[in-house]
This record gives sequence, C-alpha cells and structure tokens, in this order.
Amino acid sequence: MKTASRPRFAHPAILLLALSLATLSVASADSPLEKCMERMKKAYKALALGLEKPQESNQSTYVSLAETIKSSATESRDFVPKLAESLPPDQKTAMVKSFREDMDSFVVSVDGLIQNLKASKWEEANKDMANLKNEMRDGHREFRKD
Ligand code: HEM
Repeated sequence: MKTASRPRFAHPAILLLALSLATLSVASADSPLEKCMERMKKAYKALALGLEKPQESNQSTYVSLAETIKSSATESRDFVPKLAESLPPDQKTAMVKSFREDMDSFVVSVDGLIQNLKASKWEEANKDMANLKNEMRDGHREFRKD
C-alpha cells in the first residue's frame, strides 16, 4: 500500500510563526500592576451589577467584592506605572509619589464603600461606586500610558 509521504519536521515557516507567537505572548504579558487592575475591574463590575438590584441576602458577597477591590488597590500602590518608567528619574520619582497618594486616597474611598455595604446602605454604596469610577478616570488620565 502506498503511504502518503509526510515531512518529518515542521515546515520552517510554521516554526517561525510559533516562535514569534510565543515571543509576542511574553512581550504582551500583563505587568503586576495590570494584573491588579484586571482583578479590580472584575470585582468592580460584579459589584456594580449586584448593586443595581441590591439584595440583603447577597450582602456578604458585596462586601467580599469590595474587599477584593481594596486588596487589589493596596497591592497596586507598590508598583510603578509604565508611564512613570518612561520618564527621567526626577519626574519618575514625583509621579510615583503622586500615584501612591492617589491610590491611598482611593483605598480610603473603598473603605467608605465597605462600611456602607456592611450597613446595608445601598444608595450610599452606589454613590461610592460612582465616586470610585471618577477616581479611576482621573487616575487613568494622569498615570496611564496611552
Ligand atoms: C474601579 C477602579 C479601577 C479599575 C476598575 C481599573 C481598571 C484598570 C484596567 C482594566 C487597566 C488595564 C490593565 C491592562 O492593561 O491589562 C488599568 C490600568 C491602569 N490603571 Fe486602573 N483601574 C481603576 C482605578 C485606578 C486608579 C485609582 C489608578 C491610579 C491612582 C489607576 C491607575 C492605572 C494605571 C497607571 C494603569 C496602567 C498600568 C501600567 O502602567 O502598568 N487605576 N486599570
């Protein structure tokens, strides 16, 4: 019986493609700060959705989502934004300082949110969420690379 002859090795073009894809995935891997931000985004989104129609029975879930926002923000403050990395040393130092101050005040706002969630003050909690969103916009405008 005649068997189809198959190349023993992958075609060089395929190897090259695989290699460049692997390199690309390393190059675009999330930085630790980006990972924190992604975690924050997931928790924020889930909480915002839950608070559209708040249920007393879900209170502990809301609190734990807000705690996740808090821990992600607390972790974030010790990383250096990419934008700061691209600046000359003195400007970098100033930006990192300012980033930390803003992140610390964001954490204080999240603490307020946690208190309101624990007290089942849903309307207040929704206001806190809107304020966090504003702080996020300001933070991204100031510290995030385009
Ligand atoms: C609810 C609050 C927030 C959410 C949901 C959020 C979400 C995000 C997301 C999804 C990214 C993109 C991550 C990626 O590229 O993979 C990001 C990036 C970033 N965020 Fe936020 N963020 C929030 C608050 C803040 C605050 C308060 C600050 C600053 C004080 C901030 C500073 C940054 C910076 C600097 C980056 C770019 C990351 C880098 O330079 O490595 N974010 N954020």
